[in-house]
Amino acid sequence: MDAKTGTDGKTGTLKIGNKNYELPQYEGTVGPDVVDISRLYDEAGLFTYDPGFTSTASCESKITFIDGDEGILLYRGYPIEQLAEHGDFLETCYLLLYGELPTVAEKLDFDRTVTRHTMIHEQMARFYQGFRRDAHPMAVMVGCVGALSSFYHDSADIGDPRQRMIASFRLIAKMPTIAAMAYKYTIGQPFMYPKNDLAYASNFLRMCFGVPCEDYEVNPVLARAMDRIFILHADHEQNASTSTVRLAGSSAANPFACIAAGIACLWGPAHGGANEAALKMLVEIGKPERIPEYVRRAKDKNDPFRLMGFGHRVYRNYDPRAKIMQTTCHKVLAETGAKDDLFEVALELERIALHDEYFIEKQLYPNIDFYSGITLKAMGFPTTMFTVLFALARTVGWIAQWKEMIEDPSQKIGRPRQLYTGATYRDYIPIDRRM
Ligand code: ACO
Repeated sequence: MDAKTGTDGKTGTLKIGNKNYELPQYEGTVGPDVVDISRLYDEAGLFTYDPGFTSTASCESKITFIDGDEGILLYRGYPIEQLAEHGDFLETCYLLLYGELPTVAEKLDFDRTVTRHTMIHEQMARFYQGFRRDAHPMAVMVGCVGALSSFYHDSADIGDPRQRMIASFRLIAKMPTIAAMAYKYTIGQPFMYPKNDLAYASNFLRMCFGVPCEDYEVNPVLARAMDRIFILHADHEQNASTSTVRLAGSSAANPFACIAAGIACLWGPAHGGANEAALKMLVEIGKPERIPEYVRRAKDKNDPFRLMGFGHRVYRNYDPRAKIMQTTCHKVLAETGAKDDLFEVALELERIALHDEYFIEKQLYPNIDFYSGITLKAMGFPTTMFTVLFALARTVGWIAQWKEMIEDPSQKIGRPRQLYTGATYRDYIPIDRRM
């Protein structure tokens, strides 16, 4: 079987056996073209097979672009470095949702609208009491975000563009409140209501670390770091959790249920849980003198150990988010005065790995998780909250991708096929005649 591009660049010829199939080929604005195989079953009686979807474009999208070879990440065309340097998270939310950066008036209006939705229904606060005190906050998030659908029936009308937008505002606005409450519940402190004169990240920090008996003073360095971490995690094209949200939404499920599905997927250690693993590894290494031992282990085929926070399915270059995260980490450590032994270990480990033949040859570079764990720990978050923060920030990406899918006229319910290798047809055997 071989595939080749048609001469005009618009069709591809797929040769299977001695038959040729002309398949439409589509050009993106940037990045590889795709071959449309949707008619292949009708024409050739064949399915394609691509475990992990490593070569499959599941949709057309205008939101986020990654060039993994060059280490480039663009939201609506804007490089992540510029957005993180000059913008704020709500501006990024606006950009992801609407496709353009807001004007001053649009930004004011958007901020005000999101702010007006920060409270959750008072009855929802009682849900928390039903969880065990030691429940993982991601378990609480999956439950509570899904439960939003029982309060906002209007937002379940996904055929109405206005309701889709209201659902988007609600989700972006309520996630910090729900996440902070999940944290407060696990440490036995009273919930803090949102304070709407604070900016998005500051409000979240206050809901997490403030208490009703004292005024909470926002630290601008930490608030900026939090905001930046949200920007860095806001979207990452068709990753596992985003694809989960799209798949759930393709059946016309309500947006809260779809985002709860995304949170469930993100929870896994191979996805959102990697920063916790990277932090654990740095703690275990403990001091720079021990790094060579761990690098040796990472290279040993017979040792399952991997350098956590290194390597990425898409980036075969330095993850652009990791660079910004490294700078943010440095600023947070300088501000908090947190002992920065782990940062020293991380910098030295990065230096050694980037000069090591094994990592160079396999194109393994630090990913965003390498520095985010140290940063969040220094800011005061327990490791169980790391993935919750990721979910909070990624909600805008999920919802933008969900909206794009609903608004795409070619959208169909997601229904992959399979290569079946189980038993063939056989007759039922009554239980008394089974061997
Ligand atoms: N340390 C040591 N060796 C590694 C590492 C690593 N971190 N990552 C990959 N390799 C090696 C593999 O052993 C493999 O070697 P081989 O070709 O000799 O068999 C080769 O590099 C390719 O690795 P794959 O696992 O095939 O690459 P894949 O793209 O499937 O995996 C992944 C990417 C899962 C991220 C992997 O690099 C990894 O496990 N990294 C550590 C975990 C981590 O940091 N995950 C966070 C990802 S970022 C995010 O989710 C936000």
